[in-house]
Amino acid sequence: MARVLVLNGPNLGRLGVREPEVYGSESHADLAAAVEIWAKELDLEVEVRQTDDESTLVGWLHEAVDARAHVVLNPAAFTHYSYALRDSAAQVTTAGLVLVEVHLSNPYARETFRHVSVIGPVASGTVAGFGALGYRLALEVVAARP
Ligand code: DQA
Repeated sequence: MARVLVLNGPNLGRLGVREPEVYGSESHADLAAAVEIWAKELDLEVEVRQTDDESTLVGWLHEAVDARAHVVLNPAAFTHYSYALRDSAAQVTTAGLVLVEVHLSNPYARETFRHVSVIGPVASGTVAGFGALGYRLALEVVAARP
């Protein structure tokens, strides 16, 4: 069974409270519960984690490489400027693992600083603008892998 780490970055622990008009009314726990149901349906072993800390995220990406786990990553604000996270994400994809960059909102329809992703170029692909459904689509990409 393929293993997937679903990693959520800074402020995503505030889902439901934080700008609900942008991110919806579901909490991070609601999102994690939905991801776990979807993973079961798709026959994937999933673990959902959230941190506000850049070095913790970097460590989790190293762990994914070492454990041969695919990654669904919402890097949140780190998307736009963290070269450290980019370098860690690149290690996942160059190891032959899938890394799907996910955003709940569509950053390209928002402020200009959100139009740049330093993660996108080293990801397998990006899903943005579909809310929690983006995580389901990302898991489907992993499940469809030969
Ligand atoms: C986000 C978009 C980012 O620009 C923002 O900093 C976030 C969440 C999203 O899921 O839409 O924290 O990654």
